[in-house]
Amino acid sequence: MANLGFATTLAIFLAMVSTATFVTYTEGAARAFFVFGDSLVDNGNNNYLATSARADSPPYGVDYPTHRPTGRFSNGLNIPDLISQQLGAEPTLPYLDPALTGDKLLVGANFASAGIGILNDTGIQFANIIRMPRQLELFQEYQQRVSALIGAEQTQRLVNNALILITLGGNDYVNNYFLTPVSARRIQYNIQDYSRYLVTEYRKILKKLDDLGARRVLVTGTGPLGCVPAELAMRSSNGDCAKEPQQAAAAFNPLLVQMIKRLNQELGSDIFVAVNAMEMQNDFINNPKAFGFVTSKIACCGQGPFNGIGLCTAASNLCPNREEYAFWDPFHPSEKANKIIVKTIYSGSDKYITPMNLSTIMAIDSV
Ligand SMILES: *[C@@H]1O[C@H](CO)[C@@H](O)[C@H](O)[C@H]1NC(C)=O
Ligand SMILES: *[C@@H]1O[C@H](CO)[C@@H](O)[C@H](O)[C@H]1NC(C)=O
Repeated sequence: MANLGFATTLAIFLAMVSTATFVTYTEGAARAFFVFGDSLVDNGNNNYLATSARADSPPYGVDYPTHRPTGRFSNGLNIPDLISQQLGAEPTLPYLDPALTGDKLLVGANFASAGIGILNDTGIQFANIIRMPRQLELFQEYQQRVSALIGAEQTQRLVNNALILITLGGNDYVNNYFLTPVSARRIQYNIQDYSRYLVTEYRKILKKLDDLGARRVLVTGTGPLGCVPAELAMRSSNGDCAKEPQQAAAAFNPLLVQMIKRLNQELGSDIFVAVNAMEMQNDFINNPKAFGFVTSKIACCGQGPFNGIGLCTAASNLCPNREEYAFWDPFHPSEKANKIIVKTIYSGSDKYITPMNLSTIMAIDSV
């Protein structure tokens, strides 16, 4: 060793260290997966919170492998579950689940919480939910816990190599701006300016994720907000999608795509991938029969017009065949619709996902 230069010695040492520790957590394991956002991607965190925003009683989960409610706002699997399947990984546990310890931490974690939005004042009626600043704090806490397990350097590597999904925006409209006929946000902003404000705030959240080590993030906007059974029930007599929420989604999604493009340019890397959930859902909302649905207007579980009023509970109407419905409850897609969405995330064209789809991400990141 004595006649080797310091730099060479160091390089050999580092190579030995990284080979040795690499094996301890990547052997046979899929890349880690982290999830942030709202009820579209919450897989049970709200079960541990004192909030009314929860999916912990039947018939939620009726088609889940256990046939029991889990906290997912779906009859079965949700979007993160289906992405985990694409990664060849087990589903991530909710961050608040006590079972999330030891090796399970290396699979990733889900920090999402139903009812939250981009803004702190979204979903205030749900009281104790995990708003975005807190979800990001918990991600830091997670990294400290994993560091104690595999060391800071390997934790950094795990986070840098991870796939991340963040889903925000819908609640900033339906559970804030449009919640009451006259809302504080509506007095403050028109739809276009409010959408611009939301995208500015979303950008801050993405910057923070970048600071925390995120290197590959699927960022989704809102679906066609005016077409969900809840909005049809409240604002549409003939089943046409409600005008104002549709205008909102049509304003928000393109602004989000633009913002992500500029942010990537600024960061010099395609860290953020824009998922246009509106385009993805428009296909089966406009032409449900082509996707095997009997309807995209009536929720499988609910009551009143379009089964769009109130919550999905044991007392609600429940459709016998969930595969035939695009919407499971008044707001959330069915498992079948989630499968269509994730298939498009995996292999869709740049109309749906830019600058690349998940199959391309997986091919690029594996080399
Ligand atoms: C939301 O709350 C956090 C503190 O919890 C604060 O740092 C942040 O600025 C707030 N965001 C907005 C848009 O007010
Ligand atoms: C998306 O994925 C498919 C492969 O499934 C690929 O052929 C296609 O070029 C990709 N599209 C884009 C825009 O990356």
